[in-house]
Amino acid sequence: MQLSTKHLLGIRDLQPSDIQLILDTTSQFKEVLQRPIKKVPTLRDVTIVNLFYESSTRTRISFELAEKRLSADTINFTTSGSSVSKGETLLDTVNNILSMKVDMVVLRHSASGAPHFLAKHVPAAIVNAGDGINEHPTQALLDAFSIREHLGEIKGKKVAIIGDIMHSRVALSNIYLLKKMGAEVTVAGPPTLIPKYMKEAFDVRVEYNLKKALEWCDVANVLRIQLERQNQVLFSSLREYSLAYGVTKKILDSLDKRIMIMHPGPINRGVELDSDVADSKQSVILQQVENGVAVRMAILYLLSGGKAE
Ligand code: CP
Repeated sequence: MQLSTKHLLGIRDLQPSDIQLILDTTSQFKEVLQRPIKKVPTLRDVTIVNLFYESSTRTRISFELAEKRLSADTINFTTSGSSVSKGETLLDTVNNILSMKVDMVVLRHSASGAPHFLAKHVPAAIVNAGDGINEHPTQALLDAFSIREHLGEIKGKKVAIIGDIMHSRVALSNIYLLKKMGAEVTVAGPPTLIPKYMKEAFDVRVEYNLKKALEWCDVANVLRIQLERQNQVLFSSLREYSLAYGVTKKILDSLDKRIMIMHPGPINRGVELDSDVADSKQSVILQQVENGVAVRMAILYLLSGGKAE
């Protein structure tokens, strides 16, 4: 089986069969990662550059580890210390790197659409590692894999995505994926952080009351308040946000069921999520991070096409 696309630019472009293939391939690589020797020769002749124009901990390390587990050669590029500070463009940077016989590009960029631009102008396969406020497809895939792993399937599950929906590429990729795979989705948060078009454009429920959203869902995916992307005041203070929308042990204990708690990281502890929830057995946050390596191995393997052994 093959993916219907040469690049991974967003979940929006994927068919449900692509998502199924990535999740099934992830299961195989997760099994590899449980072995004493976690390395396979699959991408031995493939060279991959990780281009990170924006900060990252989980995604950057996870891609690098996935590449190493697959025996690919890897190059890590961050803007600091590079010729970007001398004004070199993204396209010139990538073309120079590709001229050194690099096969694939993993790109994180603060500009929405940067990976799509590259995909039009360079011959290499492009993997979107998060572009502005557009998409973060590998995060949505690892979230979906974690839901499937814990709840058996995605179809029919009720997922509440809570918090800063407006600035979240994680929210958008999750919505595309969950709807394609037959889940029900509610977006919850303050009205100022949920775009007015959500309900009509994405066929999701909108809920402004946190307790009601939690009572409805099987899974709560709690998002970070992205202060760095907000250029206007969208809520009165972090303290007030936390009082109205912070997920606490008290509110979870008041539900008549136990829901699964997810967060893409990094967490603003005590703002959108309390520490005693983030670190509880109800939370799968570190399991999401663990699954990220296997998901990225699956994507790199599937996109490498004929180059894989
Ligand atoms: N979830 C996520 O993208 O985290 P990083 O920004 O640390 O990669």
